[in-house]
Amino acid sequence: MRILGIVLAGGQGKRMKSKLYKVMHPVCGKPLVGHVVDVLDEIQADRKIVVVGHGAETVKAYLGDRAEYALQAQQLGTGHAAIQAEALLEGDDGIAIITFGDTPLISGDSLKEMIRLHSESGAAATVMSAKLDNPFGYGRIIRNADGDVVGIVEQKDCTEDQKRINEINTGICCFDKRKLFEALKQVKNDNAQQEYYLTDVIGILNGQGDKVVGYITADATEGMGINDRVQLSEAEQAMRARINRRHMLNGVTIIDPSHTYIEKEVRIGSDTVVYPGTVLKGRTVIGEECQIGPHADITDSTVSDRVAIQHSVLLEAEVGEETTVGPYAYLRPGARLGRQVKIGDFVEIKNATLGEGTKVSHLSYVGDAQVGKNVNVGCGAITVNYDGFNKNLTVIGDDAFIGSNVNLIAPVKIGEGAYVVAGSTITHEVEPGDVAIARERQTNKPGYAEKLRQRFKANKAKKS
Ligand code: UD1
Ligand code: CA
Repeated sequence: MRILGIVLAGGQGKRMKSKLYKVMHPVCGKPLVGHVVDVLDEIQADRKIVVVGHGAETVKAYLGDRAEYALQAQQLGTGHAAIQAEALLEGDDGIAIITFGDTPLISGDSLKEMIRLHSESGAAATVMSAKLDNPFGYGRIIRNADGDVVGIVEQKDCTEDQKRINEINTGICCFDKRKLFEALKQVKNDNAQQEYYLTDVIGILNGQGDKVVGYITADATEGMGINDRVQLSEAEQAMRARINRRHMLNGVTIIDPSHTYIEKEVRIGSDTVVYPGTVLKGRTVIGEECQIGPHADITDSTVSDRVAIQHSVLLEAEVGEETTVGPYAYLRPGARLGRQVKIGDFVEIKNATLGEGTKVSHLSYVGDAQVGKNVNVGCGAITVNYDGFNKNLTVIGDDAFIGSNVNLIAPVKIGEGAYVVAGSTITHEVEPGDVAIARERQTNKPGYAEKLRQRFKANKAKKS
């Protein structure tokens, strides 16, 4: 049976009070609608049609060729949105599965289970419901005395009795495709919101004697719909808990999951320990047996095995095995650290490759540089990579020693094993094995300190 996925994502999301369209609001770093399309991918849906309206171009630009698009020019309700997919599905038959772009927590397993139940029971429609302690705002599932689903009533159309029903419509449902579109044509908008409700299809099918089945999700959070920022934060929390749990079951220690923020695509090797305050984003990959955090903020970076990162920010960086970073380091795009490198406190690395065993222990800036192996960059040494117009390259050979507070004025090259004396400002190439000293020679004036003090004192008295 073909699975025809339809995602309704055309609403504006007024209750978000935002310039950003609702389905583009991120949960754990990914727009709501992205999570929903992920799940359709997971169940290998044969078609994925996203109904777009508000922010159509933004949603299309984000999803790209992951989906097909049907435009709902005016937002007249979920039933009206669903009907927009009909033209694209002409000539295609199977199970139409409707999901909402604002329901990001649905899991592939639940969808599969629902489809299985739908197929086995030969139903015309299967509705996914959930039991909530606080059902306010959701459509309620109406069952008859035998427990069969006979209809769905929206919050705003509920009687007082119906408001007490705690089984809610998640909005996710599957249908015999033909029956869905036939029934949608009969939906009217004579309700509190004057909208064409998708949910009315359930009553219509039931009324014409078609079988409607209810599938209650075991995990009620899966049905959470995001209408406002409170629900957005609740979804974030639920999704985060789910992601953290997956990593823990895979062998990652997370000291305090309630203070650890890991986006969906991040990968972490086993026996890595993640300390509180850590934020792992984008396509970050962390190796095995690492110590990450406390307070590591890592985006789109690759970290090898047995690395320790404390109180640091990494963006598009690569970190080799057994390297240590921080506390308080900043690795910016293009920072590529080899094995057993040491990056200490208040060090910034940008667009620079550092070879195995190299140490930049304190208070340095290394930008636009190629640094060899076992180089020591002393405290406060910096590359002067920018002249106000161009970014220039610094090359440092293996085993070189760069003393404290050295300025390397790029473009400049320091040869293998060379030794640059502390406090030097280097403007010319240093050949391999040479010592470079580029600073004023010191002069001492014996006993002069007291004379100097007297002079300053006299000056001050004169002024006042
Ligand atoms: C809907 C359901 C409700 C269910 C709840 C679950 C209906 C009538 N109501 O209510 O039973 O309990 O979801 O979260 O179906 N959309 C469009 N075009 C429109 C209107 C909406 O594409 O004209 C999209 C929205 O972008 C959104 C989804 O459909 O992703 C749901 O719309 P929303 O307005 O949030 O419906 P709810 O009031 O939450
Ligand atoms: Ca909603």
